[in-house]
Amino acid sequence: MSIVYNQEAKLFVLSTKNSEYQMKVDEIGILQHLYYGAPVGGMDMSYRLWHMDRGFSGNPYEYQDDRGKSLDTLPQEFTGANVGDLRISSLSVRAANGSRSCDLRYKSHEILPGKYELEGLPYVRGNNGTLAVEEDAQSLIITLEDTILGLEVKLLYGVFEKKDVITRAMIMTNRGKEYIRINKLSSVCIDFPYGRYDLIHFHGRHCMERQMERVPVNHDIISIQSKRGMSSHHHNPFVILCDEDTNQTQGNSWGFMMMYSGNHKTEVEKDFTDSTRLVMGLQNTNFAWRLEAGDSLTAPEVIMTYAAEGLNQLSRNYHHIIRENVVDAKYYNLERPVLINNWEATYFDFNTEKILDIADQAKDIGIDMLVLDDGWFGKRNNDHTSLGDWFVNEEKLPGGLKKLADGVRERGMKFGLWFEPEMISEDSDLFRAHPDWAMTDPERKPMISRSQMVLDMSRKDVQDYLFERMSEIIRDADIYYVKWDFNRSVANFYSRELPTDRQGEVAHRFILGTYALLDRLLKEFPNLMIEGCAGGGGRFDAGMLFYCPQIWTSDDTDPIARLRIQEGTSYGYPVSTMGSHVSASPNHQTGRQTSLKTRGIAAMSGTFGYELDLTKISEEEKELMKQQIKDFRKYYWLIQHGEYYRLTDERDQNYFTAWEFSGADASEALVNIVITDSHANPELPWVKLHGLDPEGWYMIEGGDRRYKGAALMNGGFVFGQLIENMMKEPDNYPSAQYHFVKVG
Ligand code: DGJ
Repeated sequence: MSIVYNQEAKLFVLSTKNSEYQMKVDEIGILQHLYYGAPVGGMDMSYRLWHMDRGFSGNPYEYQDDRGKSLDTLPQEFTGANVGDLRISSLSVRAANGSRSCDLRYKSHEILPGKYELEGLPYVRGNNGTLAVEEDAQSLIITLEDTILGLEVKLLYGVFEKKDVITRAMIMTNRGKEYIRINKLSSVCIDFPYGRYDLIHFHGRHCMERQMERVPVNHDIISIQSKRGMSSHHHNPFVILCDEDTNQTQGNSWGFMMMYSGNHKTEVEKDFTDSTRLVMGLQNTNFAWRLEAGDSLTAPEVIMTYAAEGLNQLSRNYHHIIRENVVDAKYYNLERPVLINNWEATYFDFNTEKILDIADQAKDIGIDMLVLDDGWFGKRNNDHTSLGDWFVNEEKLPGGLKKLADGVRERGMKFGLWFEPEMISEDSDLFRAHPDWAMTDPERKPMISRSQMVLDMSRKDVQDYLFERMSEIIRDADIYYVKWDFNRSVANFYSRELPTDRQGEVAHRFILGTYALLDRLLKEFPNLMIEGCAGGGGRFDAGMLFYCPQIWTSDDTDPIARLRIQEGTSYGYPVSTMGSHVSASPNHQTGRQTSLKTRGIAAMSGTFGYELDLTKISEEEKELMKQQIKDFRKYYWLIQHGEYYRLTDERDQNYFTAWEFSGADASEALVNIVITDSHANPELPWVKLHGLDPEGWYMIEGGDRRYKGAALMNGGFVFGQLIENMMKEPDNYPSAQYHFVKVG
């Protein structure tokens, strides 16, 4: 049993293979958080709570003179508000009478087989018979209540024992007679009463997403957030807390990943007792939800994992749960198509003939799918116009999309198509017909970005329009794959359909509307594959991955920049979710020149494809591309399902980046290296491999030396040959890929 309740001690113990999580109901009904970390055998961890009078930390009335017991110092599972805990809170409320207090006490709980699901929001899927890898999850639902306010708070826990994952979500219900205003909504609150921690988070910008940053948790509040209406390029809704000395292979770490694609916020506070609290939920600057009597509101799910053996292990825990329980199970064993996308080949300047010329080349090279990007609809010959007018531009594509798609299919390839559903151009028939569908503030000029505005996705009529237009096109042209883009931050959150005092709900309703549309389309077209995208990786989150098995990782296709982007992304997300393409050199974003070989190696750690004008490549390049695709197919399952290890750490300031995929049965491993800086007479690149059989013997395919697994893992591997070759075959950024195969 992974969830046990000890009635006498009022203790909840949630166990996974390598972690334990504890909570306890105290004598006045406060749900205390006791522990999250390596297994402690169910020992009641409340012995660690020392009830000292700290001064200026008041006591709940029931404790009277027991001055050591204060909400301000007790570790709590989910806080109320304005009742004595002066640290960051899980909630902020306002009752109809103006009171801002909420005092949550334990009411009841239930332990259920299987994994709970959420309505209208993405969630980690349980063992429902369609799963790629079977896992009997269990759920715990603890109900807290504030009887004066009439607020019921259900804390939901899903325990995936084999995967070392615990999920959390929260559903609140107004059981009173009057409305309650919710000003802050969180999914997780967790206290670490002892220890010194670093916070790892993933910041960035357009074309440079998910840059890993590690900061010490000091006596202040760190806040990682997005107010952009999207999870954003700027701050991913994923953070790691770790011990100060944790590195890739050693030490404790705890991950918190929100399955949400909109405004999010994670706060981390080290308080005056040196206790560390993390709260994760919706960004609340402009958030205010009117919760009517009888209504419920759900806080999105957070995926938590604990790893004792360094950050690589923490990442692998996430890779498994995302591949196996977040992404739709049908993609687990399905080989994703190697694609050619025309964006960097043509931008808006294409016609049927040009696309079919590219398709001819793609077919020759062995590519599986052609994706027609932006510019096929309305009068879209530049980015100033036509978003929302989802009607094919027959001037560019005479005979329509069907004719083009059939042409591509005749060449033996699948056909994919770009949409940017949630956007509207000022210069569009849609805006002229429905100006009120754009999310703009009445009486103000809208904030324009890339010459576009954002549709009010909270409206059912907007969702219906998009569903109809997209369905018609997908059906008529028999579209296999949709690239779902989103190219600006949202501002002017305002819905003309909602009353004045509900405008604080728009940002969250916007995302719920997007999820509803995705869900509806996938029900209508169960075989449709959707690739998420938001100006590259601006919405790379576990929420989108519930609907889209892969997401375009970044608009920066420079392989050297990509190494850092993909490495940052790899902390939380598996390579099977990362769209990654070989593009032209010099690169369109950085101007950097790189070899086709290096571009191929970087892009292969993803879902692989090409994004350049294939009609302009040399015969030699064409041959190399054919080989790259053969290699990718050969290593496909090793890359997509293998155990992923970062072999280098940014903090070591190496002049190379290396990473490895090892087969689950230790029968093979693929080791990749790219030299990112030129040094004369350099120190030799050296890494320790992982995931091999220590007793087994391995050979590099095409080589003649045998290596013992234990030697490669403990003594390491030296990329000496690569350094020697560098002088013979000059390359700005030399790279290599070694396939180790077990031979005995
Ligand atoms: C941003 C995407 O990330 C690009 O790949 C491309 O689809 C453009 N939008 C098209 O406008």
